[in-house]
Amino acid sequence: MALSQSEQKVLAATTAVDSLISEGLIFSGMKIGLGTGSTAMPAVKRLAERIADGTLKDIKAVATSFQTTLACEDLGIPVYTLNDRAIGGQLDLAIDGADEVAPEKTLIKGGGAALLREKIIAYNAKHFAIVADESKKVDGHGTGFALPVEIIAEARVPVVKALEKLGAECVLREGVKKAGPVITDNGNMIIDCRWKQKVNAAELEEVIDDITGVVECGFFTKNVPVVFIAHADGSVERM
Ligand code: A5P
Repeated sequence: MALSQSEQKVLAATTAVDSLISEGLIFSGMKIGLGTGSTAMPAVKRLAERIADGTLKDIKAVATSFQTTLACEDLGIPVYTLNDRAIGGQLDLAIDGADEVAPEKTLIKGGGAALLREKIIAYNAKHFAIVADESKKVDGHGTGFALPVEIIAEARVPVVKALEKLGAECVLREGVKKAGPVITDNGNMIIDCRWKQKVNAAELEEVIDDITGVVECGFFTKNVPVVFIAHADGSVERM
């Protein structure tokens, strides 16, 4: 029987953690960045299981969101900040989910509004791993999943104008079970951007991040990850 999307997420996450352990990229004593979302969570759980069964010891985690911090606290994974002396601003590996994965392994992230800390952690990790179900594979960015852009609230109107000049259709992300906009873990707002045609993610990441008032955008093009994609037929593809 075909695997559901949530079964694929668990399969990708557990396969990735187990493979990265056997390849020595997840190891005792390491500093690991932990992502956010419904695919990153089973990876965090799998990591906790491998700590509990004695495979991994002395793991130091840095979480990308309140969601992940709470999960680590509940699962007994010690959480640090990137700035703690024990971490020293550098991680051995970060593992996270994605909203889109293109063939050249550029990503869109931020569907859960955690893109800023996710990118800080991904870009300060020696290795980066992505776990995803097959629906996340795309042939290019721009027209599918809307690009999240985290902005300073006071700069909303000029930032939207600048994004529109780049051809984006912009929507302020609204909260669920909360009136008004989503406020990120960092106290900012999110503008979701979609284009009428495919765009160059690597170029646009720099151009968008250069707009005054933009904190960070959800294109991830600079630390090319190893990607584990689970399929409905139960196979796991490695990109
Ligand atoms: C969180 O802000 C995101 O970057 C997530 O990693 C991304 O949205 C993927 O989430 P799911 O694994 O829940 O689909």
